Amino acid sequence: MPVAGNKSNGLFGFFSVGLLSFASLAAFVYMKTKKKRKRWETQKETSSNKDMITGNASDTTETWIGSDLRHTSTKMDLLHKGHAKGGKLLVVLVGLPGSYKTFVARKVARFLRWNSYSTRAFSIAKYRLDKVGSKSADFFDPNNKGNAKQRKGIVAEALEDALRFLHRGGEIAILDGTNTTRERRNQIRNRLKREDNGRFCEILWIESLCGDDALESEKLNSLKNSPDFISKSDFERRSAFYRMNYAQLGDDEGGFVRISSHFTKFTLFQTQGYLPTKIVSFVVNLKPVKQKSVYLCRHGESLYNARGFLGGDSGLTGRGLKFSAGLAEFLSETQKSVNVWVSTMRRSRETAAAINAKRQVQWRALNDLDVGVCDGYSYEMVKNRFPEEYRSRSEDKLRYRYPRGESYLDLIARLEPVILELERWNNDDGELVIIAHQAVLRCLYAYMTDLNIEEVPFLSIPLHTLIQLQSMTYGCREKRMRILVDKDDELRSEEARSL
Ligand code: F6P
Repeated sequence: MPVAGNKSNGLFGFFSVGLLSFASLAAFVYMKTKKKRKRWETQKETSSNKDMITGNASDTTETWIGSDLRHTSTKMDLLHKGHAKGGKLLVVLVGLPGSYKTFVARKVARFLRWNSYSTRAFSIAKYRLDKVGSKSADFFDPNNKGNAKQRKGIVAEALEDALRFLHRGGEIAILDGTNTTRERRNQIRNRLKREDNGRFCEILWIESLCGDDALESEKLNSLKNSPDFISKSDFERRSAFYRMNYAQLGDDEGGFVRISSHFTKFTLFQTQGYLPTKIVSFVVNLKPVKQKSVYLCRHGESLYNARGFLGGDSGLTGRGLKFSAGLAEFLSETQKSVNVWVSTMRRSRETAAAINAKRQVQWRALNDLDVGVCDGYSYEMVKNRFPEEYRSRSEDKLRYRYPRGESYLDLIARLEPVILELERWNNDDGELVIIAHQAVLRCLYAYMTDLNIEEVPFLSIPLHTLIQLQSMTYGCREKRMRILVDKDDELRSEEARSL
């Protein structure tokens, strides 16, 4: 579909799309041999996890933040900067083991990267594991002076790497560790004072008091995925050592947000400024719930899709309507309760119309990419009529803004309220199905699977396919289901047509 990509992207798109189409076709042919055919088929099930370090590609893989530099955006002249006095920001986590610090650090890092900030998280636990391997609770006994010195050195190493990252163009570094003593926090503060008299970088502390939450089975299961976990009793002993000298953040230590009562109570202190405020508004919407699942789905085929036109507000074709019915049938047969978010556009609303939803919400923010003056044209027509525009978009599809329209970056900014609501969402109210548009879903998909935003405009989000994403602390699992509409749909995916 992305015929407006540049040459290399076009080629990449050609092959990746080609492979996907082939995979779809192969899946279809395989299913055809089965006696009783369902009207929907699982296309692929993958674990989208970009920070994987364990190497074994099972569904639940252990991950570490910051282990992959591919996420680092190098182009920084994109959106608002928002740093006080043009400086950098160091976000430092504080809290007992098992207080969801890594959950917060990973989420914040992903959110900021998605917003084009060059952000990287540094896990102190990972530095320790790399240096001394897995250690039992006794290693953390504060009375063991030798180990305390070694642990201090490990923090210093992580902090140096964080500063190096900031010096080399990084904008926000996140230090993910316990940092439960004043001594430890002074170590960090004093080191920062040596950088341009403390002007190089501001600190935002995020303290979680959720380490005292009951170690119920769900939390335990999540902890078990950490390479730092040995056993329940060892974990409890280690936590007890940290409790011995835990000093909560004081008002004399700088701006902080404190999370307590299992993410229902937040205390803010001196968190003014654009970027700290943005981070805080994100953090207060986080919920460490059990696996969260969201379905993403494009509207059924529209008249404009069938004619290859961009934009517009056309209704569904006959095939689009069949898809709408198939989707409703699939959801009613597989889900007890469904909530639907749609855009305000006709094709999206018509697709959702047949679904027996508990609640349906229309979002203007979910509307399709505004293609401005190119609305109603095909890619071919755009190429002939606006060759300059066509070329510019091919050169930088992510940042290109249609005259009187939008760019993908504009779209990402527009989707921020949806992201905050997505973070607040839990599955207690049933499943969530988002029925929107190709460009919009590319942005949401990239956020949920933590992809580099440079990849956003080229992601494959085919028509008539339901994508289920299950997010966990340590990654995201993906399942694609194709809702079969008719023979045409089975044999010709939209991508195949556009090649
Ligand atoms: O063709 C369907 C569509 O959703 C258009 O309305 C939209 O402009 C386009 O896809 C976005 O895809 P791309 O960014 O690859 O042109």
